[in-house]
Amino acid sequence: MKFEKEILCIGAGYVGGPTMAMIASKCPQYRVTVVDIIPEKIDQWNSADLPIYEPGLDKIVKQARGKNLFFSKDIGAGIKAADIVFVSVNTPTKTFGAGAGMAADLQYVEKTARQILEYSESSKIVVEKSTIPVRTAQAIKRILVSDKSDVHFEVLSNPEFLAEGTAMRDLENPDRVLIGSQETDSGLKARNELVEIYANWLPKDKIITSNIWSSELSKLVANAFLAQRISSINAVSSLCEETDADVGEVARAVGLDSRIGSKFLQASIGFGGSCFQKDLLNLVYLYRHYGLNEEADYWEGVLKINENQMDRFVKNMLRNMFNTLAGKRVCVFGLAFKANTGDTRNTPSLTVVEKLLAEQAEVAITDPKALDNAARDLKDAKGNYELISDPYEAAGGCHAIAIMTEWELYRDLDYQKIFDSMQKPAFIFDGRNIVDHDKLFEIGFNVFPIGKPKKVHF
Ligand code: UDX
Ligand code: UDX
Repeated sequence: MKFEKEILCIGAGYVGGPTMAMIASKCPQYRVTVVDIIPEKIDQWNSADLPIYEPGLDKIVKQARGKNLFFSKDIGAGIKAADIVFVSVNTPTKTFGAGAGMAADLQYVEKTARQILEYSESSKIVVEKSTIPVRTAQAIKRILVSDKSDVHFEVLSNPEFLAEGTAMRDLENPDRVLIGSQETDSGLKARNELVEIYANWLPKDKIITSNIWSSELSKLVANAFLAQRISSINAVSSLCEETDADVGEVARAVGLDSRIGSKFLQASIGFGGSCFQKDLLNLVYLYRHYGLNEEADYWEGVLKINENQMDRFVKNMLRNMFNTLAGKRVCVFGLAFKANTGDTRNTPSLTVVEKLLAEQAEVAITDPKALDNAARDLKDAKGNYELISDPYEAAGGCHAIAIMTEWELYRDLDYQKIFDSMQKPAFIFDGRNIVDHDKLFEIGFNVFPIGKPKKVHF
């Protein structure tokens, strides 16, 4: 069968995999191929056991795979065949040289652009999916200047707004899709081609277009605003703990103002994940680059509150557990940075685990999906820790439980059974405010929520 379009995605990660699976499932008339520099990753995408956990992803991949969705190791052949190339490689925070610890490391984006240039025998639209600093499209475009006169590249920005754990739902029914292009004839033509792809399943008014710089910046700003809301409510949580106000009640009252809105006001141990910290650092770096230091300090404050929240949490444990954790067994519920994913990138839980190990606590970590990643993350950690998949077994013999990830599972455990198996006095520190604090207190736990009065028996 001849396909209407050949779509390629370079980078088979958390963004590339789900996004291409959705396009393939919604557009049987296109052939969608996903490539990656890590061959084992492609093997996993072709197996029964996909490399990432995302609700609903399995079903869609298994339906489309081999029909119009292909995972391939041959990057060159993929590029040659493609009309449209999505670039979805990672852009971590730079760890070396100028801008280390702040700027985005663009080496993978640049290498990918050079690969596209090397293998292209015909004109292509190149779509930036990865989150990148403003004006990266210009850099990509400069690399993609071909000496072959019949090969022309148009670079578009199409940032991804999906959140892990709800990626398939976000892709199927997004608030908006944003496409930025240069405002030249060829830029606008390429932009329309990409609009047509999304229009296969989305109403046109959800597909918004802009100039390419606005599009790149919008992604950083959207993540900065979301992270800022969490830091704002977390900054309120500490005051609540001092004043006997309840952060849940405050969030509800404040969020019902339609100008403020109710989402993303869940006080927590802090935000994690692959994007918020990286994008904020990147934004701060951009401000500093342009000499806008006051504004840089403002956004940096969002990160400081986030770090402070984790620090405060462990200090609170220490203070309430008689100022010593040394030799005490602490059970950590959840290592994933949020529920419904196995992803542990920048997870606050890991920061808490490291702080607990530094206090010489013995840490038993449990998580329904993230223990493989946890084993990798902790391989160089100093101290005494265990990874245990069964939460009851993990909590047995512990002095305290710290709830770090809002897995539904942790809401519904038999806490009487857990209490009976623990050392006394038994403590529970709920970093997500997900369990029934009154009930746990009645069972006998000393309960420490975030931003709510503690409930203690002594
Ligand atoms: C996302 C977003 O795409 C990006 O905007 C953000 O900066 C980081 O998070 P994600 O899909 O979550 O990326 O990253 P990851 O799961 O690491 O996937 C990237 C993939 O690209 C990896 O599988 C990696 O092997 C691959 N890659 C990397 C290439 O194929 N070629 C390269 O040159 C570099
Ligand atoms: C985020 C953005 O939401 C998404 O649009 C963008 O494309 C990528 O970055 P993601 O990192 O997958 O997505 O997860 P998100 O749901 O935003 O959660 C980020 C962190 O904030 C998690 O650690 C989560 O637990 C925490 N969070 C979220 C809170 O602590 N409180 C809240 O109210 C909401």
